[in-house]
Amino acid sequence: MSTIDFRRHRRLRRTEGIRNMVRETHLHKEDLIYPIFVKEGTNIKNEIASMPGIYQWSLDLVEQEVKEVVDLGIPSIILFGIPHEKDECGTSAYAEDGIVQQATRLVKEKFPHLTVIADTCLCQFTDHGHCGVIEDGQVLNDPTLELLVKTAVSQAKAGADIIAPSNMMDGFVAAIRHGLDDAGYHDIPIMSYAVKFASSFYGPFRDAAHSSPQFGDRKTYQMDPANRLDALREAQSDVEEGADFLIVKPALSYLDIMRDVKDRFPLPVVAYNVSGEYSMIKAAAQNGWVDEKGIVLEKLVSMKRAGADLILTYFAKDVVKWLEQ
Ligand code: PBG
Repeated sequence: MSTIDFRRHRRLRRTEGIRNMVRETHLHKEDLIYPIFVKEGTNIKNEIASMPGIYQWSLDLVEQEVKEVVDLGIPSIILFGIPHEKDECGTSAYAEDGIVQQATRLVKEKFPHLTVIADTCLCQFTDHGHCGVIEDGQVLNDPTLELLVKTAVSQAKAGADIIAPSNMMDGFVAAIRHGLDDAGYHDIPIMSYAVKFASSFYGPFRDAAHSSPQFGDRKTYQMDPANRLDALREAQSDVEEGADFLIVKPALSYLDIMRDVKDRFPLPVVAYNVSGEYSMIKAAAQNGWVDEKGIVLEKLVSMKRAGADLILTYFAKDVVKWLEQ
């Protein structure tokens, strides 16, 4: 009866079976990286007020958390350290018995097949909370690089499988690559926080990691959210300097950048679904305003659709449970 000529898109949406056949993007548990906060001390399992379900762990208790991750089949974790002592130069970031180094040794000993990523930065370890060395109120680039190299090498020595420098100093990938190579760690990849914006979405993380800057902000090293070309320049230099993975951070407000990065560089792209993105959904879900599972799965699939190969997310454990339901 129809004489009108149009296309019936709904044919491919008619049944669940057909919808499953034509789905273009899939989320797998193998895509996930789960962040764990390790804190110096004993008997610590502190829930972070702004991040329900996420804890700071001391080393005597963290094994239960890591075991859960392994049992769920999540292939990788990233460790963030909260030291007991902080100083001007972030000494505990590169101490042989630093909290991240100790945690790495422990986890690799108990769970050798779990891939351990070490976040390489100074802000949790400096008393001023900046990601580098300070002089006259300025964060110095080149002197900071030396400390980052020391941090990365000490993490590799402790058994970290991947080094993830996040401090946004210029040349950090080149410096760390040289440092790792010189120390014999040619085979340890660098997952660079290549594109990291100066974002308000990091607020809850700074509560969790006690890493807020004590003066000023991070805008002289992290990027302006308004800038796309700057993101591409950053990614390009990290590729040239030898990065093996490129992180785009935060994820949700930067999906356009993720797509740009994916289209331009032949490296695995990692979406960092940051703390503020987690907290917003948790808060809304706890109020009964949104369906947490639906929102989270939609959000993570959108990151993959935008080009992410891997997703670093505080929701990783929940996602695996949901995917397997
Ligand atoms: C350290 C670092 C930060 C995050 C990861 N590594 C915080 C910052 O730059 O202040 C944020 C992660 C998150 O919000 O989940 N430089």
